[in-house]
Amino acid sequence: MSVECREKIVDEPKTSPVAADLLAHYDAHARDLPWRVAPADRRAGVRPDPYRVWLSEVMLQQTTVAAVTGYFDRFVTRWPTVDALAAAPDEDVLAAWAGLGYYARARNLIACVRTVAAGHGGQFPDTEAGLRTLPGIGDYTAASVAAIAFDRPSAVVDANVERVTARLYAIETPLPAARTEIRARVAALVPADRPGDFAQAMMDLGATVCTPRNPSCLLCPLAQHCAARAAGIAESLPVKLPKKPRPQRTGTAWWIEQDGKVLLVQRPGSGMLGGMRALPDDGWSARGDGNAEPPMTGQWQRIDAAVAHVFTHFSLDLALALYRGPQIDKVAFENLNGAIWWPVDNIAGAGLPTLFAKAAAVAIQHR
Ligand code: ADE
Repeated sequence: MSVECREKIVDEPKTSPVAADLLAHYDAHARDLPWRVAPADRRAGVRPDPYRVWLSEVMLQQTTVAAVTGYFDRFVTRWPTVDALAAAPDEDVLAAWAGLGYYARARNLIACVRTVAAGHGGQFPDTEAGLRTLPGIGDYTAASVAAIAFDRPSAVVDANVERVTARLYAIETPLPAARTEIRARVAALVPADRPGDFAQAMMDLGATVCTPRNPSCLLCPLAQHCAARAAGIAESLPVKLPKKPRPQRTGTAWWIEQDGKVLLVQRPGSGMLGGMRALPDDGWSARGDGNAEPPMTGQWQRIDAAVAHVFTHFSLDLALALYRGPQIDKVAFENLNGAIWWPVDNIAGAGLPTLFAKAAAVAIQHR
């Protein structure tokens, strides 16, 4: 064999049959998503904006594409660049995040974008290791931004990719123990020439074809490679250990209204719904029921279990207590935890997280 010929073989990017079939399917069926560069444009040299990729990846953790799209569009319209978001006041960003859940992500988002703006000249680092040095960026986000924004050959493994991979290789070890093997399998598949498209193609396949229930194996570009399909066990994978039952907690939120304005507070910076605007409440938490006394004596109308809300690690039955008088001195509350009297007819503008938005809706029906 001539030297040139040997070099050519060595230089050829290695794309496994699995990756090749997946990418061919992605070229024809990639979802059109606002942060994504379509595969044809990507091959024509268009590069994704790392800011949009990072923002979308933070929003998409634990959250579906359908839930994220509207938030993403509003964020990039209002804050189109790293510098714009870095300059935004915390309360504006937290209010814009309201309803998306997992509020630690929003606090980390603010810390991260300010570090990129102040410490990196507004440019995201372009390697997985560099990205991991930023506040709030963990293994998943570093890998996904490195792959999608910078075409680094990172193994990007979210819940969709876990499912696709567990089925492809019929991995019957339960999660989370299976994660090491799954990651190694994905790493071995990443094609050198299109790592970003490969990561997104795996996610799309998991979201649209290789679904948790009733996977569409007849439409699957990987069906011929899939060990779980061959064994007839696709739907039973990945194996998950039974979840711990969710504890049930109770709490009470206080609706204190005077002259068309309701008293809102700011929750402490860390912990449940940290930093978010909220109704004052009796201190319920993941660890226990609420038991604090109401902020003042007077007449209260109680509505038991006004809102049922499910958090990741517990369920909450939230009662409401509506203050019915006598007339109070509004000024007395103004130095309580960022307390603010908010116009009830603009409650939607307060940026309440979903639990308190639901409680406010119930209170407004009963005022
Ligand atoms: N889920 C997380 N990141 C995603 C992406 N870039 N495309 C589609 N689904 C995703």
